[in-house]
Amino acid sequence: MTRFASGVSNLRSSQIRDLMSLATRPGIISFAGGMPGNELFPLAEMDEIYNDLTEREKQVAMQYGPTCGLPSLIESLNSYLKEKGLPVDTHKLLITTGSLQAINILANAFIDAGDSVITENPSFIGALSAFKSYSADIQTVDLDSDGISLEKLALKLDSMERKPKFLYITPTFHNPAGMLYSKERRIALIEMMKDRDIPVIEDDAYGDLYFYEDDLEDIRPMIAYPHEGVEICYTGSFSKIIGPGLRLGYMLVPPHIYDKCELIKQSVDACSPSFTQVIADKFIRSGAVKKYLNEVRQEYKLRAEAMHKALKSSMPEYVSWNKPQGGFYVWVKLPKGINSMSLLKPAIDKGVVFVAGSTFDPYAAKDDCLRISYCNTPVEVINKGVPIIAEAIKDAYKQLELK
Ligand SMILES: Cc1ncc(COP(=O)(O)O)c(C=O)c1O
Repeated sequence: MTRFASGVSNLRSSQIRDLMSLATRPGIISFAGGMPGNELFPLAEMDEIYNDLTEREKQVAMQYGPTCGLPSLIESLNSYLKEKGLPVDTHKLLITTGSLQAINILANAFIDAGDSVITENPSFIGALSAFKSYSADIQTVDLDSDGISLEKLALKLDSMERKPKFLYITPTFHNPAGMLYSKERRIALIEMMKDRDIPVIEDDAYGDLYFYEDDLEDIRPMIAYPHEGVEICYTGSFSKIIGPGLRLGYMLVPPHIYDKCELIKQSVDACSPSFTQVIADKFIRSGAVKKYLNEVRQEYKLRAEAMHKALKSSMPEYVSWNKPQGGFYVWVKLPKGINSMSLLKPAIDKGVVFVAGSTFDPYAAKDDCLRISYCNTPVEVINKGVPIIAEAIKDAYKQLELK
């Protein structure tokens, strides 16, 4: 028997990955993926940036770069984040290969096999897999409508024999729950974590994709609030603001954490792709990123509102969901007695695929919700696909009544 490392033996192919093969079946409507719309990528801008590069810039693009990231990108990203109120003067930026690598490096920095970490339930499957790969003991705390439940978090912290190594959260346009922590909850959570010596990993992959200017105050990242006594490690991504194909993300972390993470990254891939860093730098520096974000926000908002409307007109009264204010996802809550996994096959047979809620529970237990995304689906397809899921739910409910 091949003796894999224990963390790796525990890894199972995620349902998302398995479903990707089904999602690409011709004709199937996929609400499963969390990827940007193909037709929304800034292709013309990418062409223009590449064609305008000097020979020297093209050489830099083809070469290895510093582990921390290309100086020019660090400079432009620093300014971009500073404008958003992030503490770039007291924290340090490390460019990573996607923000998932940032999360993975932080996990590597903190977790010894068997250590506990706390995540929300539900939580981003990529992060859960990263934590599992280091053999973490994952403890979870439920969300309520304002964010992670502070009451349950306090109980969890009190009940743990050993202090968790960190708390991992996604306060803004949560994947999969779609929700937004309230401003009050962000402040209260910082207060609660004060002087506990438990770093907070704040994953903000979707923060730029807000739909309503009125929410700007609410989506202010936790790291942008005064947080003395709490180490906040902020992770961000270029995937949702340019394209995941760049494989670029970053972490903004306290300097002593940065030092360790840079060493880890050196052993992982030495540096992130210089090629895409050069492109991303130009995209930010020229201001094209802001114009582009304005356009895609409009399109995602349109799709999100269409999905909300389609849900309103097709779902029975015993089903509820969040009205999206940004990001990619709607989290649909099913009535008692129906689990989302049991709906998947009937829905796929009828031509629609979504992600079952249990995928986002590290113990694959909670399955009373399902995730549908509107990001990669035009409005007319949303209008066609949502009623099919509604039908599958109604059929299951009828079966339940007959029992
Ligand atoms: C919450 C969250 N964090 C991080 C990521 C990772 O994104 P990337 O590695 O493409 O930057 C994703 C991707 O879907 C996500 O949903």
